[in-house]
Amino acid sequence: MEMEMSSEVVISWLPWATLAVSLLYCLTVWRRRTGGGRPLPPGPAPLPLIGNLHNLRAGVLHHTLTSLARVHGPVMMLKLGLSTAVVLSSRDAAREAFTKQDRRIAARPVPDANRAGGFADRSMIFLLSSNPLCKAIRGIHGTHYFSPRSLAAACTVRERKVRDMVAYFRRRAGTVVDIRRTVYGCVLNLLSNTTFSVDVVDDLGGADEAIHGDGAGGLRELVHELVNGVTRPNVSDYFPFLRALDLQGLRRATGRRFEKLFGILDDVIDRRSASKQKRGDYLDSLLDLVSAGKITRDTVPIMLVDVFVAGGDTMTVSVEWAMAVLLRNPSAMAKVRAEIKDVLGGKEVIEEADAERLPYLQAAWKETMRLHPVGPLLVPRMATEDGVEIGGYAVPKGSTVLFNAWAIMRDPELWERPEEFSPERFLHGRAEEFDLRGKEYFEFTPFGSGRRICPGLPLAERVVPFMLASLLHAFDWQLPDGMSADELDMSETFSTANVRAVPLKAVPVLLT
Ligand code: HEM
Repeated sequence: MEMEMSSEVVISWLPWATLAVSLLYCLTVWRRRTGGGRPLPPGPAPLPLIGNLHNLRAGVLHHTLTSLARVHGPVMMLKLGLSTAVVLSSRDAAREAFTKQDRRIAARPVPDANRAGGFADRSMIFLLSSNPLCKAIRGIHGTHYFSPRSLAAACTVRERKVRDMVAYFRRRAGTVVDIRRTVYGCVLNLLSNTTFSVDVVDDLGGADEAIHGDGAGGLRELVHELVNGVTRPNVSDYFPFLRALDLQGLRRATGRRFEKLFGILDDVIDRRSASKQKRGDYLDSLLDLVSAGKITRDTVPIMLVDVFVAGGDTMTVSVEWAMAVLLRNPSAMAKVRAEIKDVLGGKEVIEEADAERLPYLQAAWKETMRLHPVGPLLVPRMATEDGVEIGGYAVPKGSTVLFNAWAIMRDPELWERPEEFSPERFLHGRAEEFDLRGKEYFEFTPFGSGRRICPGLPLAERVVPFMLASLLHAFDWQLPDGMSADELDMSETFSTANVRAVPLKAVPVLLT
């Protein structure tokens, strides 16, 4: 009787127990998939193994991501091989990420090529922002290179380098010049002279000491190839189990370039240490910090490489886009010219501080960065903890977080006639309130925001407008071969940064 009772009970409870266990299982799986309660962001259906890589194979990456976000929403998830990316494409998502989740997404995913020579373990670009070495480096850059005092001290050096560029174009007046190539040379020399008082590109004809000999003449190409190599899509990043094979050889090639670059920099550092002669530049400050035991000698070349890698292309691309956009918009160009004439008319040679007195030119630069940001996806971040939530969705730990600043800065909900180049919006509209620091207005963040905001901003905001003002003060610029403004190709491509697909060529015509 007892036996009968218990088997009856078991039989009647069995379906319920099975249901409960199944529910528990589903709940556990669901919670694991959603990161503990919240759903995962929507996104295009991934294919086995490759995930959504096929969705990204055509077109310019930030354009493709913008189109996908129109379908799947402002917080969108993609599987890139075995890695996960969450793409934020609205101001509100960006605001939430920067203000509420900044600490938990402050890591950077490390592209495999950057592991060459241990670079990623020592560079501030890739170290965790809470890492003591990263904090120390950021603090030193901030105090000894980017602070108002240090920037003021190096002002005449920067002015000299920009004048070298103007003199170079002057010698080629009336002929077609490649603006990107020359501006890049100027920017590298400006960085090398403010850091260690030497020209690294000697074909601009400056009077400063130049590095000669093996490798030095090709430093422009070396830095460019290095940046190109580390930003190229790499199968090792999507399938980490293939890393050891380095199938595209990108890590090996980057390793060779780093070795060459570090060789050049080590030589500069050793010669300075041996000479005991002070030059009053950044290298002097860094060697003082080495003597004081604040940093080690082998951190110094990495800090210099960070400056070249992050500062060279960015400032060049920004100047090139601004020149292109002005050539494409003759009425805006005329206004910039009129302003320069009004404010600086009597001056033969202009100074860096003069650019601060050119509000229309400053607005034209901002508007250029809105339309053609150097970093349209900023620099990728990575979620380091569970529990990150953006827009009501879970951002899984370990996923890459991309800010589609390009999409946000062209969002028709936020910008009137967003495709139109109109510097006036940074003079008379709401945009007038926006500064470059991305603190309050997340619809305009060309330098990023939060704890990983671009540390080079104080330098860039002095140098880029000054270079533009210098180019436009000295020359009238014409498009080559009778090309009309409308014919100027404004296509973007994503390589080292958001660069012009067709390098800008123009003819400098002497004004003075
Ligand atoms: C027009 C010029 C420039 C633009 C538009 C620009 C833009 C950016 C952006 C969008 C980021 C990522 C910010 C984020 O993750 O929130 C960044 C990071 C960085 N930038 Fe710039 N940048 C420029 C010039 C420079 C210069 C001149 C230097 C140095 C000389 C520099 C050094 C860096 C470094 C080291 C980082 C990484 C910071 C970190 O990971 O903590 N940048 N920049």
